[in-house]
Amino acid sequence: MSTEYGNIPEETIDAVLHQHDIVETVGRFVHLTKQGKYMKGLCPFHSEKTPSFTVTPDRQIFYCYGCGMGGNAIKFRMEIEGLSFPEAVKIMAEEAHIPFQNTGGKPESPQDRETGRLLQAYEWSEKFYHFLLKNTEHGRPALEYLRGRGIGDKLIDQFRIGFAPDRWDTLVQFLDKRSFDLAEMEKGGLISARQSGDGYVDRFRSRIIFPIANRSGKTIAFAGRILGEGHPKYVNSPESRLFNKSRVLYNFDQARSAIRKQRQVILFEGYGDVIAAWEAGVHNGVATMGTSLTEQHAAMIKTAADEVLVCYDGDNAGQNAALKSIPILEQAGLQVKIAMLPPGVDPDDYIRSHGKERFMRQVVEDAASTTKFRLANLRRNYKLSEESGRLDYAKAGLPVIAALSSPTEREVYLRELSSEVDISFESLKQDCNLIRQEQHRPAPGQEDPGPAYSGPQSGGRGGQYGSKNRDRGDYGGKGGFSKKGSFGGGNYGAHEENFFPQERRARPNRDLLPAYQAAERRLLYLMLQDRQAADYVAERLGDEFNVPENAAIAAYLYAFYAQDREPDSSRFIASLQDEKLEKTVSSIVMMEGPREWNEQVLDDCIREVRKVPHLRGIERKREDMMRAEKEGDFLLAAQIASEIIALERQ
Ligand code: GTP
Ligand code: MN
Repeated sequence: MSTEYGNIPEETIDAVLHQHDIVETVGRFVHLTKQGKYMKGLCPFHSEKTPSFTVTPDRQIFYCYGCGMGGNAIKFRMEIEGLSFPEAVKIMAEEAHIPFQNTGGKPESPQDRETGRLLQAYEWSEKFYHFLLKNTEHGRPALEYLRGRGIGDKLIDQFRIGFAPDRWDTLVQFLDKRSFDLAEMEKGGLISARQSGDGYVDRFRSRIIFPIANRSGKTIAFAGRILGEGHPKYVNSPESRLFNKSRVLYNFDQARSAIRKQRQVILFEGYGDVIAAWEAGVHNGVATMGTSLTEQHAAMIKTAADEVLVCYDGDNAGQNAALKSIPILEQAGLQVKIAMLPPGVDPDDYIRSHGKERFMRQVVEDAASTTKFRLANLRRNYKLSEESGRLDYAKAGLPVIAALSSPTEREVYLRELSSEVDISFESLKQDCNLIRQEQHRPAPGQEDPGPAYSGPQSGGRGGQYGSKNRDRGDYGGKGGFSKKGSFGGGNYGAHEENFFPQERRARPNRDLLPAYQAAERRLLYLMLQDRQAADYVAERLGDEFNVPENAAIAAYLYAFYAQDREPDSSRFIASLQDEKLEKTVSSIVMMEGPREWNEQVLDDCIREVRKVPHLRGIERKREDMMRAEKEGDFLLAAQIASEIIALERQ
């Protein structure tokens, strides 16, 4: 094993891991609660209602029992921010003021090379489309359309907008001439395979091309808009090894420095809005890819900002989408404000008809708090001119106010509500307190009920707020995590469920790991903590683990210790550079059971592991015997039978 990871010196990795505590790193994205020697929270990598995401401070790793994601602090940043290993190390080194240099020299993997070729193809395609828009007859109608919408040359260059002509093979030919492998390009989402199965056609025809970039500004997909009206309005590149919609925000790359400076993001719905806002001087605007906001988006925003201003269309769909984004953003630890646009108007329209100044003053600066927005949104459903309407609105609005933790804030909104519904402040306040008692009745053993709103909603949109916090509350009451497995000497496989109580709960399929697999994991668990245990196993078992992954981990671990390194799961994981192995090691490190061992414990496990090849040998002999019987060679069959008996006696 090399002492460099890719091109980065081992010392840099060590320093980065030393400076970035796993709890702090994860804690910026996930709300963690302490449970014994672990921290638990809701996994940011898959959607779940009960926390199975676990962090161990003393071993500096994370692991999710729900989806199997695991690793050290660097791995966490890679996954949550969509970074490559060198990118993550570089950013983390910079954050901790560790000098970073990439020493170069290590050959790239085939996957890296494919990614490299695709990025190159996207870059060239983007330039090609841009050229066609600006300089050719083909592009003229599109250019005129864009100008008509106030998107001139400067914006076209800034956003590298292009045009795909109305032909079947413009891009196919372009890529082919440059010797790109068309099958690879198809897989990467640049072109489509012909339905007949032979050859390729362009994916985008007669469409304005908006390049979609990753956070370092490299184009990884296109969005193609039809000229004028028509259906579908947009065609996007499919998801590929480069492009994952739920992790990409349009314009994040260009907006990042403004976002960092202002610690604020303005979240729009459409590309058009982002571009119009940019022209108006709003340089911290981003948009999702027409899909709803995900936890990963929120986490990405949180790396650069503390506050998000949600600026969606003033129609029902836009307002509902805004409502849905609030808990996701708040979960990520972001402050949220909502811009209130007139019904049926999108930010792009607004800027065009009212100008930049009014947009800045009346939309951006006057954005509402989430409470104000929720109340306004509720209010639309009631006729406040009628007494029953006012009463119903008050009933619907009170839980929203009751969920606020600040008494001052509650008072402000209660007063406002009081004047709107014409009910005395005092009686509203009493009702509010009753609701608070309901909402905040803590589950047994629960420390923190969580701040999010969890009251009822009218109009069929109910229940989405704070549901996670509710679940977290439920979980706290069960206290299942601290229950230790009983760890008796000797018979490992049989008591499997006691050693993996968490895995058992979260992944029913893994309950019944065969005994030899449990023994292999147990061995690795002890070897990861103690080099003497590793030496002992190395001598007696070597890498003769039955599960190939376990064998690989053992081999890497021997190499790790051979470099005179101390047991350190987090650093060992950094040395693996293999996602599957990283996850497996993380899951092993998370196992329950004592860390103490003696030779008896190891011997028992080794025997269990060694049994397998032996049993497989017997199995093979049985098959031979049956074959001999079938063929009528009873003498041979009898001979094999006696061999089997002898083997079984061993
Ligand atoms: P303009 O009509 O040019 O102002 O476009 P827009 O970007 O403002 O689009 P709109 O407000 O209609 O929609 C918001 C976002 O939803 C768009 O930016 C797209 O990301 C997405 N979207 C809208 N229509 C489609 C569609 O037909 N297909 C796909 N895949 N996405 C769409
Ligand atoms: Mn629009």
